[in-house]
Amino acid sequence: MSTPDIIEMIAPSFSMPAPPAPPIVNLTDIRKVHRLGNVTVEALAGVTLTIREDAFLAVTGPSGSGKSTLLNIIGCLDAPTSGVAEICGVVPALMSDNARTDFRSREIGFVFQSYSLVPTLSAVQNVEMGLPRGERDRRERALTALEEVSLADQARRRPSEMSGGQQQRVAIARALVKRPSLVLADEPTANLDSHSAELVLDVMMEMRSRFGTSFVFSTHDPRLVERMDQIVNLRDGKIISQEGHVS
Ligand SMILES: Nc1ncnc2c1ncn2[C@@H]1O[C@H](COP(=O)(O)OP(=O)(O)OP(=O)(O)O)[C@@H](O)[C@H]1O
Ligand SMILES: [Mg+2]
Repeated sequence: MSTPDIIEMIAPSFSMPAPPAPPIVNLTDIRKVHRLGNVTVEALAGVTLTIREDAFLAVTGPSGSGKSTLLNIIGCLDAPTSGVAEICGVVPALMSDNARTDFRSREIGFVFQSYSLVPTLSAVQNVEMGLPRGERDRRERALTALEEVSLADQARRRPSEMSGGQQQRVAIARALVKRPSLVLADEPTANLDSHSAELVLDVMMEMRSRFGTSFVFSTHDPRLVERMDQIVNLRDGKIISQEGHVS
């Protein structure tokens, strides 16, 4: 058999698509009902979704469609009324409160629209707050995380002495300092001008490629949506469409 024949025989094994990454989030028929006196609001009305490791995924939809509720359930900040949420291989609803808090503080980082920095603390002290209790080398690790978001020279500044984009990058350093598996970012660019929004996104994309961190965003922001690999559209608590490699 000639060499080209042999290559042709084995070539199909090289052109096989890579196997999908393992799931980091598995949601099955998630419902969330809020009760306010006699009134009930169904914030999520049966969401089934798999998010794979290495995701860069945006949840979009109009105000009130359930985006924050979905992120809060993925982040174990809120429990579903029914359905099963499996996050990083565990089912948080089956854990004790202490075990769930510990799991969340190690595996999941949060970034919020309003940055949520402590105003009386410096940038580096704010980043240290992102490390779970008992972790060592706090100052050194926080400074490294600030360097990663190009803010090493701002370490001693307080939030009020920084721009919105800088504050959001401090918040990203706080989320990433513990090297979480998953970062949840609820409207992270909503308060930022275009240049700052781009910088914030650049930092998150770099963290994803360096550390394999998965990112799940909620957003209305087209600047953010166009840089995503996957988009999940919500309406009235239901997924109405998905784009990208969402299974
Ligand atoms: N704690 C709560 N108590 C009662 N209703 C709630 C609560 N949290 C959310 N809701 C309701 O659930 C629905 C979904 O809210 P959610 O905050 O998830 O929407 P959203 O898509 O994040 O909206 P936005 O784009 O305005 O942030 C809304 O109708 C909201 O009023
Ligand atoms: Mg919201």
